[in-house]
Amino acid sequence: MSQTSPHAAVLHELEPVVAQNLDRHIAVAKEWHPHDYVPWDEGRNFAFLGGEDWSPEQSRLDESAKAAMFVNLLTEDNLPSYHREIATRFGRDGAWGQWVGRWTAEENRHGVALRDYLVVTRGVDPVALERARMDYMTLGYDSGDKTPLEALAYVSFQELATRVSHRNTGRATSDPIADRLLARIATDENLHMVFYRNLMAAAFDIDPDLAMQAVTKEVVGFEMPGATMTGFRKNSMIIAKAGIYDLRLHHDDVVSPVLRAWKVFERTDLGPAGEKAREELAEFLAGLDAQATRFVESRERMRAREAARKG
Ligand SMILES: [Fe+2]
Ligand SMILES: [Fe+2]
Repeated sequence: MSQTSPHAAVLHELEPVVAQNLDRHIAVAKEWHPHDYVPWDEGRNFAFLGGEDWSPEQSRLDESAKAAMFVNLLTEDNLPSYHREIATRFGRDGAWGQWVGRWTAEENRHGVALRDYLVVTRGVDPVALERARMDYMTLGYDSGDKTPLEALAYVSFQELATRVSHRNTGRATSDPIADRLLARIATDENLHMVFYRNLMAAAFDIDPDLAMQAVTKEVVGFEMPGATMTGFRKNSMIIAKAGIYDLRLHHDDVVSPVLRAWKVFERTDLGPAGEKAREELAEFLAGLDAQATRFVESRERMRAREAARKG
């Protein structure tokens, strides 16, 4: 093999695993259509075509459902950036290239469906949404200089994070139509997670130390891709307060199950570099867990105070 970097070598060795998992994905992924999930009979023209422009009382969503829908849709909208990220790391040839195309097409469906739903039901301000989309996409998303294995580790967690976030957003809307749509999208995200998680599992067997170091780096530095979007901090707070996505969910429902699937804390094949990375990960997780506990406690106190005030 002429490739010298250990990362390139692992990526090359993963090719057959990519092909297997692409076949598996295509066999289990069910076709669905965004238009089925949109209550078109609720739609009407805006002022530009002689109707009425959006105003807040038209939305059936409360503040937290609005914030979550806004963040989820804009996150989906930045797909060209994510496509660039994975296409430049994994290439356009063979099974990798086929996956990149298929994954991109599926992700695009999410943005299409969410936008149609929100515009037709007047769930969020379409002007604010469009302005934020322009800013966020113009800025683009750049994950920095991640190696291919770091990118694989990152997307394993990120796809699961989007699954949890979409699923809980659906519940928070109190609208059975939105709930079904978001559950459908969450099913896609779960299959994406499984694809990347399986590849990373294979990478652990090929080069455990390199995989372990990549995982620690990505868990410790994890950030949602939406971090650069307009109002992200404020909306993230609202989303966390509502329990749609918070540190507890991040620790328990996103990071922990993926680490368990890779048997990270049971492996006996790590060398000194891998062991060091695993220790660092364990230490970080203990801190994250403690932080999550403090967050949930303070949220409970806040909810109790609010209930007492309303009492
Ligand atoms: Fe998506
Ligand atoms: Fe996804």
